[in-house]
Amino acid sequence: MKTYRVAVLSGDGIGPELVRATIPILRLASHLYGFELIFEEALVGGTAIEATGKALPLETLEICKRSQAIFFGAVGGKQWDSLPPEKQPERAALLPLRKTFSLFANLRPVSCYPELLDASPLKPQIASGVDLIIVRELTGGIYFGQPKGKIYTEQGEKAIDTLVYETSEIERVSAVAFEIALRRRKKLTLVDKANVLESSVLWRKTVKEIAKNYPDVQLNFMYVDNAALQLVLKPAQFDVILCENLFGDILSDEAAGIAGSLGLLASASIGSTKFGLYEPAGGSAPDIAGKNIANPIAQILSGALMFEYSFQEEEAAQAIRTAVGDVLKEGYRTADIAQDPSYICTTEQFADKVAQKL
Ligand code: NAI
Ligand code: MG
Repeated sequence: MKTYRVAVLSGDGIGPELVRATIPILRLASHLYGFELIFEEALVGGTAIEATGKALPLETLEICKRSQAIFFGAVGGKQWDSLPPEKQPERAALLPLRKTFSLFANLRPVSCYPELLDASPLKPQIASGVDLIIVRELTGGIYFGQPKGKIYTEQGEKAIDTLVYETSEIERVSAVAFEIALRRRKKLTLVDKANVLESSVLWRKTVKEIAKNYPDVQLNFMYVDNAALQLVLKPAQFDVILCENLFGDILSDEAAGIAGSLGLLASASIGSTKFGLYEPAGGSAPDIAGKNIANPIAQILSGALMFEYSFQEEEAAQAIRTAVGDVLKEGYRTADIAQDPSYICTTEQFADKVAQKL
């Protein structure tokens, strides 16, 4: 039987309760679709700092290295906010993981279940039919560019950030985006600022070259300011949106707003191999942690993404998505998106219902 090893890094806050609720669903789906999952748990984030002094202990990294995917909850919390930035849970855990495994592409699918159109802040007729995926370059651009720093001049302080991209960095993430477009509606929009940024000019040139390998994919270009506008005016026009790191960071949060709750959105960080890190778009939500009320949908859909991208188990992934939709159809909701009090579920209850549907 096909067997996949998964490193389970639940982390802090709502992470552990979401992961705990989701694992049985993934297991069930694997049985139904004829493959086996071996889960290995490991410490990460604040929880790991408490136990070992490090947000990403060596043992955790070893477990990740012998796995085919990382199933991640969330990290962070007030207790660790006073640590120096480089020791804080998010930075000291997620950045090294991305670096170690060359996870240079972040995928954020956004779609609206028809049953949840009322959760969207957009009018139902605008949110209806939204089914897009943002492919964000994750390891380059202005967050990492050198030189970087502060300079004291006679006029006062000056701060420098540098936006750098190399052709090879653009090529590899573009290839990921085109491959995804091929399996979807075959439309790719490169979002940039090629009217003012030299790096964006290089993006356009490089992406046009890559596009020659994908004649079936329709490529178009959009400036980032217009893309921000179009995402709220006419989000259904998009299929795959490709962007550099900073633009992708901003647009993916904006796109999250279309769905209506952070608890609905999954994400994947992948590279050139099948290895990937899968996590909800939201954080550790300390305000609701430990209450069994967090929405598990993002975590469950992250599992579906893992099936799809790391294991090529598309049918199992689709079955999970359908099961979530079926539970929503019956009216059940967690508190963040509930309208009718008689249909409110806890995290566990919602996840159990998804398993039953499956
Ligand atoms: P957050 O995403 O944790 O929470 C923002 C709001 O969304 C809160 O009101 C929260 O209750 C709600 N929310 C998030 N996920 C939800 C879910 N599944 N169901 C229902 N409601 C949900 O972001 P915030 O408050 O800015 O950060 C809290 C902590 O999480 C910080 O320590 C931050 O550093 C960390 N964080 C970690 C991330 C990660 O592990 N990848 C990503 C973002 C933040
Ligand atoms: Mg962000």
